[in-house]
Amino acid sequence: MPQNARPEDAPVSLGTWPTPVEPAPRLAAAAGLAADALWIKRDDLSGLGGGGNKVRKLEYTCAQALAAGATTLVTSGAPQSNHARLSAAAAARLGLHAVLVLGGEQPALSQGNLVLDHLAGARLAWLPGATPEQLRDEVERQAQRVRDDGGVPYVIPFGGSSSFSARGYTDCGTELLAQLPGIDHVVVAFGSGATMAGLVASLGAGRVIGIDTGAVADPGAALDRLLDGMPGVAVRRADLRLDRGQVGAGYAALTPAAAAAMRLAARTEGIFLDPTYTARALAGLVACVADGRIGPRDRTVFVHTGGLPGLFGHPALSELA
Ligand SMILES: Cc1ncc(COP(=O)(O)O)c(C=O)c1O
Repeated sequence: MPQNARPEDAPVSLGTWPTPVEPAPRLAAAAGLAADALWIKRDDLSGLGGGGNKVRKLEYTCAQALAAGATTLVTSGAPQSNHARLSAAAAARLGLHAVLVLGGEQPALSQGNLVLDHLAGARLAWLPGATPEQLRDEVERQAQRVRDDGGVPYVIPFGGSSSFSARGYTDCGTELLAQLPGIDHVVVAFGSGATMAGLVASLGAGRVIGIDTGAVADPGAALDRLLDGMPGVAVRRADLRLDRGQVGAGYAALTPAAAAAMRLAARTEGIFLDPTYTARALAGLVACVADGRIGPRDRTVFVHTGGLPGLFGHPALSELA
């Protein structure tokens, strides 16, 4: 623990670290890179609850929850939220309860992440057509309900992203530098933003390419807010590389480029991506190589942030078979 760090600032152990970094020569060649210029950082193999990027963030958030004496984690997300699933898993691991406020219509049949939410014992609250403000209000109502029942709620923000939880990805960047020196580009999906913000803090703005998924209305502002709240992180906003070219018809849509990226990763490396985040991120990487933002010999890392359960709850699942 760094000197002067408060105990609640130290992460609680939830995952399996370091995650592997694997060369991806066949994917590299198919994407237009030299065969020895691409690696995959396997944060999908982070251990807890099916794995994924949210585990690193939850290690910090849950430490604060435990320090606050919480009995129940309360959070929000999209119906197939990987963050919600991993919050439920983290709660189970730590002996806490979880309440998940999901912005959408309750489906007749639970699929994908929803099945895992139920298995982990989370209580689900549905809010069809909710704005971000309405979701926040419902989270507050659910937190009050926990208090009324004699518990202590701990509210985790949408997507698990805060300037504090971003430290999980600052750690990831440091881990990556030790595993693979001389990296030119790190490509990662951008949802609520703390994954990119944390990586920027340890790798520098110029090396990280965030591929927006359309999860938030103004990703640039979300990233600015997260970076502003991170002590000691000074970033020139003009150096940030946030690519909005893969959103397509919106967060919930399966874009043709994402579908192609899913087939490409599966057929070249036997690696499965999710349609919402990692498929868009790989599609973004391929586009960056095609237009020269990534040179063919540039040492490039694709961060696999997990999310595969979401595939099995995606409305366009049948288009992929
Ligand atoms: C699989 C997956 N990858 C990437 C992201 C993006 O992470 P962040 O919200 O920190 O931008 C998410 C978050 O929702 C996710 O579930």
